[in-house]
Amino acid sequence: TPRIFSGIQPSGGLTLGNYLGALKRFAALQGNESETIYCIVDLHAITVWQDPDVLRQRIREGAAAFMASGVDPRQSILFNQSQVSAHAEMAWLFNTVARVGWMYRMTQFKDKAGKNSENASLGLLAYPALMAADILTYQATAVPVGEDQKQHLELTRDIAAKFNHDYKIEHFPITEPLIEGVATRVMSLRDGSKKMSKSDPSDASRINLTDDADAIAQKIRKARTDADPLPGNVEGLKDRPEARNLVNIYAALADETPDAVLARFEGQGFGVFKPALAEVAVEALSPITRKMSEFMDDPAEIDRILGHGAERADELATPILERTKEIMGLLRSR
Ligand code: TYM
Repeated sequence: TPRIFSGIQPSGGLTLGNYLGALKRFAALQGNESETIYCIVDLHAITVWQDPDVLRQRIREGAAAFMASGVDPRQSILFNQSQVSAHAEMAWLFNTVARVGWMYRMTQFKDKAGKNSENASLGLLAYPALMAADILTYQATAVPVGEDQKQHLELTRDIAAKFNHDYKIEHFPITEPLIEGVATRVMSLRDGSKKMSKSDPSDASRINLTDDADAIAQKIRKARTDADPLPGNVEGLKDRPEARNLVNIYAALADETPDAVLARFEGQGFGVFKPALAEVAVEALSPITRKMSEFMDDPAEIDRILGHGAERADELATPILERTKEIMGLLRSR
């Protein structure tokens, strides 16, 4: 059975992009044909400054978002990264496998570090080695993510391949990225060339999983578009990034293809399409928002679930970590 691993950072409110690109698909991948391991990656979050009390709360919110999106902690292993020490330990081993140049090439590092990269935390540079550790500590074979994580997953494959080559053993799998569907890159509602992101200064650019029905409808109404009517198929959306984004969001929320959506809205303008999209969005998101806040009413229960998940994760991770250390020649005598 394939072993699936994925993670989400608890570094601020989650968006419709996180939901469609990741959370919604995590729930769909659960089942008898696969083993699913989902992680709130708090050690990644602290590569940039986090207020400790806020962070603790966001870790719980992350867990609530997973569960509200349909991740069932009985079917999947759900935990926060820092409770399983194998992640940090494996990351150190990978720091010795990965090359500094690989890290400097990461576009996410360049974006997050900004101009003054000398002042970024060392952890921000090493971030992808910890991500590889998350995945390979479970020898996971597939990783569902949005498009923006593709480069990090290529680096994970590079680390696995270099390790296997250097130590002359087929120890780590070469992980498959699962970047599938029409919502692998949900774009900003204000600018069709930028991805929807929790760090965008404009709140109108994104739909947050905590937005109420009025806020969702208003943001969609104000979303940037062109003035043309909708075409009958996706070819007609070619140079219309904002229109394409809204059609893709509709399709992903309604579990339809973009062509099926366009077949119904052909010739209609955004005056018709936007209210319809708002309705679909509210219908899909309001149960999630409600469940998230219900879970957040009982933080002790969330902590219990994460603790239990961490114990199960630890059982899988520890033997693989120990075997990795043995392969590398690290002596163990206790
Ligand atoms: P993070 O926390 O930034 O995002 C979590 C997931 O949401 C996806 N995503 C999007 N998908 C579509 N459209 C968007 N606009 C959009 N914005 C975000 C991301 O692609 C991701 O799947 N480095 C990772 C966390 C991580 C991880 C891992 C993932 C750490 N270790 C191991 C997989 C496996 C990150 O920062 O995701």
